[in-house]
Amino acid sequence: MAEEFDACVIGSGPGGYVAAIRLAQLGKSTAIIEKRETLGGTCLNVGCIPSKALLESSEHYNQAKHSLQDHGINVGNVELDLKKLLKRKDSIVDEVCKGVEFLMKKNKIKRFHAFGRLKSAGEVELLDPESKKVTSTVKAKSIILATGSVPVDIPGFEIDEKSIVTSDHAINLQNVPGKLVILGAGVIGLELGSVWARLGAEVKVVELLPRMMGTADKQVTQYYQRVLEKQGLTFLYNHKAVSVEKKKSGLSVTVEKQDGSTDKIDADVLLVAVGRRPYYDELGLEKAGVELTEKKRIKVDHTFKTSAAGIYAIGDIIDGPMLAHKASEEGVAVAEIIAGQSGHVNYDVIPSVVYTSAEYAWVGAGEEELKEKGIEYTVGKAYYKPNGRAKAMNEGDGMIKILADKKTDRVLGVYIVGAHASDLISEAVTAMEFSASSEDIARIVHAHPTLAEIMKDAAESEGGWAIHA
Ligand code: NAI
Repeated sequence: MAEEFDACVIGSGPGGYVAAIRLAQLGKSTAIIEKRETLGGTCLNVGCIPSKALLESSEHYNQAKHSLQDHGINVGNVELDLKKLLKRKDSIVDEVCKGVEFLMKKNKIKRFHAFGRLKSAGEVELLDPESKKVTSTVKAKSIILATGSVPVDIPGFEIDEKSIVTSDHAINLQNVPGKLVILGAGVIGLELGSVWARLGAEVKVVELLPRMMGTADKQVTQYYQRVLEKQGLTFLYNHKAVSVEKKKSGLSVTVEKQDGSTDKIDADVLLVAVGRRPYYDELGLEKAGVELTEKKRIKVDHTFKTSAAGIYAIGDIIDGPMLAHKASEEGVAVAEIIAGQSGHVNYDVIPSVVYTSAEYAWVGAGEEELKEKGIEYTVGKAYYKPNGRAKAMNEGDGMIKILADKKTDRVLGVYIVGAHASDLISEAVTAMEFSASSEDIARIVHAHPTLAEIMKDAAESEGGWAIHA
């Protein structure tokens, strides 16, 4: 006999587990199916959390080696204990995954360790994750697909997770590579490139396009790139990686330049980080009548309903940025919709963050996008350098740019490069969510001395009355 629930969620990442908790809070009997042994999906197991642990540790190492002396602290010979650094990362992952397990129990959500496959609308088959044999079936009035994404492969670059790796393995290298080549100047490439560069690797980033962070404001992105270059990262734009050859020791990566000529780059490790694709392999979409969009994401309407009755989808498998916080918001919204409420997500105000040093965070449109849309705008800018708190922190590299509607002064985009950009962006997100003007930000009292004052400085500059410029 199949167990029956009001709702069943497939996938326990930040989309799926949040949806399950919200459903349980709203009184729905809920099951969650996860093929991994641990809960939390890519984000907690091999993505956001382990990479942030490594970024934090490698930044401490970097500071001990290069900048604590500026504070008058001499630390002598700084040594790296990579094993311990990786172990710390693993124990953080363990803690956060167990945290999700605890939340499932607390909310009386039934967890199945299995590969879930749609059998029909209202029915999910449970397969053994190893043998893929059907072990049982679960019935649910509402099924939520939240199966996330996996790294994109490129032909000619066969991943062996030893010397040719994806992010899954690049968070676990047992030795610091002498030379690390990264395909893709995206978020993963820059974050993991920074980790290994700080720990001593020579890092080269090969990028197909003429610039990084395609949709973000060009001027701020260029400023950001210069900050990364000062740390020793090298960017090769308009370069197409063609093939990789395994030599006796190390790799030789062939790249094609825009003029058609080729170059060879030596590498000890090659990280392929050219994007992620939605993961719905063997999920039984066709059988259940779930359709895809032209871009091969799962097609949903504004209530996250797929083309099959009773089946919903959220997160990386549907349209939009592949971001944990976007998936979580959709998880809350879909649960509320299933419970008869009117959940929704404001897609215009989703922040992006790259957790490098300096951090890069933004929300809304950059100058290029506004020009393309024919929207007239004004610009305000302020830099970290003159800010007292930034000086005290030894964090002079950084800037904030605010873009506001020329007529109404409504904030349309905010771009931040610098220390704590990931936290500072929240003020911009809140302001934009409440349709604030740039002047509103300029006239809000900001505590002194804080980095947040740079946001106020930028807003004053937008209004033409910057006090500290
Ligand atoms: P991405 O989409 O951010 O960047 C991939 C880059 O690879 C692009 O610049 C693209 O032009 C380039 N590229 C594509 N094909 C190439 C080729 N053959 N040779 C060289 N370059 C090539 O993808 P990434 O970094 O793999 O991240 C995947 C997803 O995970 C993203 O959607 C990202 O938002 C998400 N993520 C978010 C994080 C965060 O929010 N901090 C951290 C890590 C991942």
